Amino acid sequence: MNPKEILDTAKALVSDSKGILAMDESNPTCNKRFAALGIPRTAELRLSYREMLITTPGLCESISGAILYDETIRQHLNDGTPFIKAVVDAGIIPGIKVDAGAKNLAGHPGEKISEGLDGLNDRLAEYFKMGLRFAKWRAVIAIGSGIPSQACIEANAHALARYAALCQEAGLVPIVEPEVLMEGDHTIEHCYEVTEEVLHTVFEQLYTQEVKLEGMILKASMVLPGLTCQKQNTVEEVAEATVKCLLRTVPAAVPGIAFLSGGQSAELASERLNSMNVRFKSQIPWALSFSFGRALQQPAIEIWSGNNLNSPVAQKALYHRANCNRAARRGKYNNDMEKNDEK
Ligand code: 13P
Repeated sequence: MNPKEILDTAKALVSDSKGILAMDESNPTCNKRFAALGIPRTAELRLSYREMLITTPGLCESISGAILYDETIRQHLNDGTPFIKAVVDAGIIPGIKVDAGAKNLAGHPGEKISEGLDGLNDRLAEYFKMGLRFAKWRAVIAIGSGIPSQACIEANAHALARYAALCQEAGLVPIVEPEVLMEGDHTIEHCYEVTEEVLHTVFEQLYTQEVKLEGMILKASMVLPGLTCQKQNTVEEVAEATVKCLLRTVPAAVPGIAFLSGGQSAELASERLNSMNVRFKSQIPWALSFSFGRALQQPAIEIWSGNNLNSPVAQKALYHRANCNRAARRGKYNNDMEKNDEK
C-alpha cells in the first residue's frame, strides 16, 4: 500500500466541486432499468449504454470518478479501447463495486446483509493491477415495523469496516455506503434516529478495524421522510436534518461525504444538496458531494432508450445533470438552470 496515494485519491474524488458518477448497477439492476424502458437486456447494450455515458464530452469538468461494475471493466469500447483506459483517458478516476449484493439476513425477515468478503483480498489485488483506484460496498438498512434490528446494523457495519480495511491494504480508497432506504411511511425524525445510529455503529467499526479515515469517502443517504409518509418535508428541513445528523456522527478527518440519490428525482437531489452547501458551508469540516446513480443517469437513459442515434442528446442530458450537481456543491444551483435550452 502507498498511503499517500490513497489519501491523494480520496481527496481528488471530492475536490474542485466535482462528484462521482455511480454507473455500477449489477446486471439484475441494470436489466431492471432497461426493462422499464423496453430496452433489450443484453451485455452488448449494457456496454453501449455505458460507452455513451463515459464518452460524454466534457464529463470530467464535473465528474471526478466513475464507479464501474465487474462486467464493464472487462469490456472494450466499439473502437477497441479497454473500458478502464477510456475512463482514465476521459480524465476520470475508475472505481469498482465490490460487494456481491444484499442477501436476506438469517433470522431477520425484511432485513439484508451485503455479501462478498470471502475472496475479496484476491479480487482487490486484481482490480488494483487493472488500474482501478477506489471501490464501493453498499449495505442496505430498511426502516419498518421493528426494523432495523441491532443485528442488522452491527452485521452490516462490521462487513463495511472489514471491506474498507482490505481496500486500503490493497491500495484502493474505500467508499463506505450504508444506505438507509426511502421505502416506507416513516417520518423524517424516524429516519434521523436510524441514520444516526447506523453511522455511529459504522464509525465505531471503522475505528476498531483501524481504517484510515483520511483515506475513505462516506457515501451517505440523505435524512428524508419515507416515500409514502404523509408529511413530505421542505428542501430546507431535509438539508438541516441531514447536516445535523452528519455533524454528530462523521469525524472531521473524513475528506468527503458523497450522497447517493436513492430514488429521489434528479432535480430534488440537486436542490437538497445545494441547500446543504448554501446553509452549512461554514460549519462543515468535510466536502459535501454527490455519488448519484439515478439522479445523474435517469434523463440520459430515457433519451438513449437503447438507440445509439440518440447518444449525443443523451450525453447532453448527462452533462447537464453533472453540471447542475457541481453547481449544487458550490451552492450555486437554482431552478433556472433547468430551463436552459442547452440541457
Ligand atoms: P442511486 O443514486 O441511484 O441511489 O445509486 C447510487 C448507488 O451507487 C447505490 O449504490
